[in-house]
Amino acid sequence: SWTMKGFIEEAQEAIRRQVGEHGRVICGLSGGVDSSVAALLLHRAIGARLQCIFVDNGLLRQDERAQVEALFVDRFHVPLKTVDARERFLGKLAGVTDPEKKRKTIGREFIAVFEEAAQEVRGAEFLAQGTLYPDVIESVSYKGPSVTIKSHHNVGGLPEKMNLKLVEPLRELFKDEVRVLGRELGLPDEMVSRQPFPGPGLAIRVLGEITEERLALVRRADAIVQQEIRDAGLYRELWQAFAVLLPVQSVGVMGDERTYESTCVLRAVTSVDGMTADWARLPYPVLERISTRITNEVRGINRVVYDVSSKPPATIEWE
Ligand code: XMP
Repeated sequence: SWTMKGFIEEAQEAIRRQVGEHGRVICGLSGGVDSSVAALLLHRAIGARLQCIFVDNGLLRQDERAQVEALFVDRFHVPLKTVDARERFLGKLAGVTDPEKKRKTIGREFIAVFEEAAQEVRGAEFLAQGTLYPDVIESVSYKGPSVTIKSHHNVGGLPEKMNLKLVEPLRELFKDEVRVLGRELGLPDEMVSRQPFPGPGLAIRVLGEITEERLALVRRADAIVQQEIRDAGLYRELWQAFAVLLPVQSVGVMGDERTYESTCVLRAVTSVDGMTADWARLPYPVLERISTRITNEVRGINRVVYDVSSKPPATIEWE
């Protein structure tokens, strides 16, 4: 009968068979479950012949880069190269406001940055991807039929271009199996049960122009949302909960001063697969805490609104 321990053994053997005794493998880490599980499985199979690459695109959530480094370097001793590409991404995104253009810009830049980083890895012949079974049977498209980039971590085209052969150790698994596998491999629960986070990151949660200042606002608001949702014990029952920064300013008051500052949306949804979603009936005290904390702690946001739209006709993200 099929067991996860048996799967791990077989998957390791299959990896060793494919890459041979000396083959080196590059693996892009996104901070998400799939690439993390793929990386740990590969590390078990081939040890230091695995080289992970993590791109800091400046669109990450608070502490995300430090968390990835702590987990992979400090805890699992996985060879990891972090590429600080924050300025590159922000430079390319300057003045870009159209959601699809944001995605395309980020996708292109990711491939360029990743390719450069990968080229510095000596003797690598293989590229690992955390492709799952559902990705194999249908490629998911976002925001209409013209957009087929699943995320900026989808390094489509790279393997051929760089002459790398693909290693996809998760391609027979469904998401829930990947989570079980992750647990079995020792991934901490907060990583295994992580809510989805889009490849383009905070860029599509800053409506309008992306600047370092506006990213900082949404990042700080988002950190408060994450913390309060976890503290309220709601993290696991929600598909996603996050903050979106609107390109709207409104009048407020602070002390005896009039303010004119940004508006932030709180978005929280329940969903089974992200295809449809219902706005979450968050308890008033949780709404209150999040709103109070954001308006008190994030200078530059003076108003928080709650999104009560379901999908369809709205989407989960605002861009
Ligand atoms: P929407 O907004 O289309 O989102 O209802 C459905 C799910 O997909 C995620 N999403 C993305 N993930 N790249 C990603 O990797 C993207 O460009 C992207 N756009 C949306 C979204 O977070 C939700 O879970």
